[in-house]
Amino acid sequence: MHAYSLIAPAKINLYLEIIGDRPDGYHELAMILQSVTLADRVDLRANGTDYIRVQCDDPQVPTDEGNLAYRAAALMAQQFPEVYRKLGGVDITLEKQIPMGAGLAGGSSDAAAVLVGIDLMWDLGLTQSEIQALAGQLGSDIPFCVAGGTAIATGRGDQLAPLPSFDHLYVVLAKYRSIAVSTPWAYKTYRQQFSGSYISDYEGQSRQQQRVHSGAIVKAIGQQDGKRIGQLLHNDLEKVVLPAYPQVANLRQTLEQMKTLGVMMSGSGSTVFALVETQAQAEQVHQQLRALLPDPDLNIWITQFASSGIRLDY
Ligand code: C5P
Repeated sequence: MHAYSLIAPAKINLYLEIIGDRPDGYHELAMILQSVTLADRVDLRANGTDYIRVQCDDPQVPTDEGNLAYRAAALMAQQFPEVYRKLGGVDITLEKQIPMGAGLAGGSSDAAAVLVGIDLMWDLGLTQSEIQALAGQLGSDIPFCVAGGTAIATGRGDQLAPLPSFDHLYVVLAKYRSIAVSTPWAYKTYRQQFSGSYISDYEGQSRQQQRVHSGAIVKAIGQQDGKRIGQLLHNDLEKVVLPAYPQVANLRQTLEQMKTLGVMMSGSGSTVFALVETQAQAEQVHQQLRALLPDPDLNIWITQFASSGIRLDY
C-alpha cells in the first residue's frame, strides 16, 4: 500500500524521578508512562519524489527538520537507502490534537507513527524492538510512544518494561495554550538546583531504579488500584517548573481542591492532569475548573487511559 493513516496517542507521566547524571549528558530516570486517548492523526503517502514533505493543520508546528516526524522519515531514508531510492519520499500530514510544549509527547508520538507507518509502507518487516531502537536515536520518549500502554521507563527513558495495562481511569488534562515549557530548560534548571542530591555511581543508580520497579506505585498498578495510584503520583520536574510558572502552579492548586484521585504535572509541563474514576467525575472536574478559571487561554480535555501506542486508523 502507498498510504497509511495512524493514530498517535499522547502520554502522561504517572511517576518521574530524576536519579542522576549519565555519561552522555542526559539524566538517568525512573518513570512510569501511561498512554491516553488524546491523539494526533498521522497520514503517510508515498509521493514518488526525492523529498520528505510535512504538512500540518497547526501553523505553529514546524514542517522542516525541526519537526520530529520529518526527522523520523529522514532516519528511515538514511537507514534503508535502497528502498528509499526505489520507492521515493513521503508526504506526512499531521492533524494535531496534542498541544506542543505540554509534556504530553505529542511530537514524539507523531515521530513514532512515522516510523511504524514507513515500516509498513516500505514492507520492511521490522520488529517492534527494532523500531524502538531507531526511535531511541530520535528522542528519549519515542520508544515508549511506539508501544504505548503502561510501562516503567529507565535509562534516558528509552529502556522499557511493560506493566499490566488498564484503561478504566479517566484523565482531565489542563494546559494554558500560551504556556509551553522547554524540556531541555527544565532538565538543565533541575541539574543547576538539585545535582547535589544526584546518585553518581552506576550501581547506586540501578539500585534506585530497582526500588521503583518493586515499589508501591508499580504494585498499585498491578492491583488496578486507582485510589492508591492517585496518592503515589510523583514528578521531580515540578520542583523547577512550578516556581518558574506561577499560572501552572495555580492551575495545579485549583485542581487539588476538587474531588479527584490525584493531581500532577506531566513530564516537563505545562500540562497538569487529574485522575478520576468515572466519566461523570471527569465532567464535573472539567466544569468546576472552567468555573474557577474562566480564562479562554486554558484548554481542558477529558481523556482516558489507553492500553496501546501507535495504531492504524482504518
Ligand atoms: O531525548 P529528548 O530530545 O526528548 O530530550 C530533550 C531534552 O531533555 C534533552 O536535550 C535533555 O536536555 C533533557 N533530557 C535529559 N535526560 C533525559 C531525557 C531528556 O536531560 N533522560
